[in-house]
Amino acid sequence: MPVVTRHIGLSLGADICWPLAFEQILQDSRLRLRLGRETVEFACERVPLKPFLLEPGCKYDVVVDRLTHWFKLQREWIKKSVLMDDLYVYNNPWSVQSYEKHSSYCAMAALGMPIPRTAMLPQKSYDQVDDLDHTLQNYAELFELGPIGDALGYPAFLKPYDGGGWRGVSKVDDAEALGKAYDESGTDLMHLQAAVKDYDLFVRAVGIGPQVRVMKYDPSAPLHERYTVERDFVDDVQRQWIVDTCLTINTFFGWDFNSCELLSRDSVFHPIDFANPCPDSQVNSIHYHWPWYVLSNLKWALFNAATRRPMRKTLDFEPYYRIAAGAEPYADKLQAYARIARERLAADEFAAFDAEHFGPLEEAAWAWFRSDRCREAIRRKVGNLYPAHEVDEFTDRFHSLVLQSVEELAATSGRN
Ligand SMILES: Nc1ncnc2c1ncn2[C@@H]1O[C@H](COP(=O)(O)OP(=O)(O)O)[C@@H](O)[C@H]1O
Ligand SMILES: [Mg+2]
Repeated sequence: MPVVTRHIGLSLGADICWPLAFEQILQDSRLRLRLGRETVEFACERVPLKPFLLEPGCKYDVVVDRLTHWFKLQREWIKKSVLMDDLYVYNNPWSVQSYEKHSSYCAMAALGMPIPRTAMLPQKSYDQVDDLDHTLQNYAELFELGPIGDALGYPAFLKPYDGGGWRGVSKVDDAEALGKAYDESGTDLMHLQAAVKDYDLFVRAVGIGPQVRVMKYDPSAPLHERYTVERDFVDDVQRQWIVDTCLTINTFFGWDFNSCELLSRDSVFHPIDFANPCPDSQVNSIHYHWPWYVLSNLKWALFNAATRRPMRKTLDFEPYYRIAAGAEPYADKLQAYARIARERLAADEFAAFDAEHFGPLEEAAWAWFRSDRCREAIRRKVGNLYPAHEVDEFTDRFHSLVLQSVEELAATSGRN
C-alpha cells in the first residue's frame, strides 16, 4: 500500500504556546490513516518568510495562517499558493483583506440578523493627499452629529469601521460625549452604533471548520478572566441558534476560523462583532477553552490535508441572498443558511472522518495536556507576558483550567 505524506504549514507570528501543542500532539499521535488505497502520514513545519517566484511550487497541502491580516509578504505568498498550487489555507485571504466589520454588518443585516442600528460617519480628519482639498470642498456635506446620535439613541458606541481589540471604542451616553469622542477619533473612519442596553448575556462563538465552541464572555473582567468557564448558560435551542449564526457568518465570508460576538437581550441574540478571522488562540486568554481550540484546529487541518478537500477560491453570496429574499420567518432562514454552511464545510463528512480516524489523535492530546510538556508550553507563554514573580502562579492557574477542561472533554468524547 503506497505511503503518502501530507504537509501542514504553520504560518506564525508571535505565537508561542499553541504551535508547540499542535506540533507535539501531532507527533505523539503517530497518525497513519488508511484512506482508500493509500496510507497517509503527516508532516508539520513552520513556514519561513522568504522571497518567492510567482510560479507553482508550494509543498504544503494545508496552511494554518496567523499572518494574512497584517503581514503582506505572507498574505501574497498564500494567495499565490492558492492560485497556483491549490493550497488549502484557513480563511480566504482576499476575504480577510477586504471584509471588515462594516461589510460584515451590512451583509448579515441583509440576511436578517438583528444587528444594532449603526451609522457610518465621515472621518473627523484626513491624511493630506493631493486631491483631498478639492474633493472635500466640492463634495463633503456639512452634517450635524446631534440628530444622528438622537436617531440611534443613547448610550451608543463610537468605534472604528474596521476595529479589533477594542481599539478606539468609546461608549457615549449623550450628545456631548459623542461630540467629544468624535473629535478625538482623528483619521479613523467610525461607526456609531446603538448599544444593546442591559444585555443579559455576552457570548463568543468560535468556529473552526464546522466545529463551534460557545463561550460566555465577561468584558468587564481582567483579560485572563474574560472567557468564563461556565458551560450551561444557554439552552439547546439557543445554543443551536448561536452555532448556526456563527457558521452562517463564517461560510458567507469564507472564514474557517473566526470568532463571533453576540449580546442577548430578551432572548434575542444581537451579533455585534464578527469579522475576526484568526482570533486570539493564546492560552493566557482562553485557558480553559484552549484544549478545545488546539484539538479542533488539529482535526480541521488534518481532515483537509488528508482528504485534499479543495478550498473555495471565490465567495458565493447568492444562495444566502436567495434565502433572504423568501417570505419565511427568520428562524427558518437561519436554518437554511446553516444547511449551506454545513455543506460548504463538509460537516457530515468531517464528523464521520473524526469518528473513524481521530481516536489516536485525541488520546495523544489528552496525554499531552496532562503532561509537563503542556505545563512548559504554558510557562513559556506566561513567561513572555508576566513579571517573573507571577510566572509560577499564572502557569499553575492556566494549567489547572486546562486540566479541568480536558477531563470534561475526554469524558464527553469517550476517548479517554
Ligand atoms: N452595540 C453594542 N452594545 C453594547 N456593547 C457594545 C456594542 N458595541 C460594542 N460594545 C462593547 O464594546 C466592546 C468592543 O466593541 P467591538 O465591536 O467588539 O469592537 P472590537 O472589534 O474592537 O472588539 C464590545 O466587546 C462590547 O463590550
Ligand atoms: Mg469585539
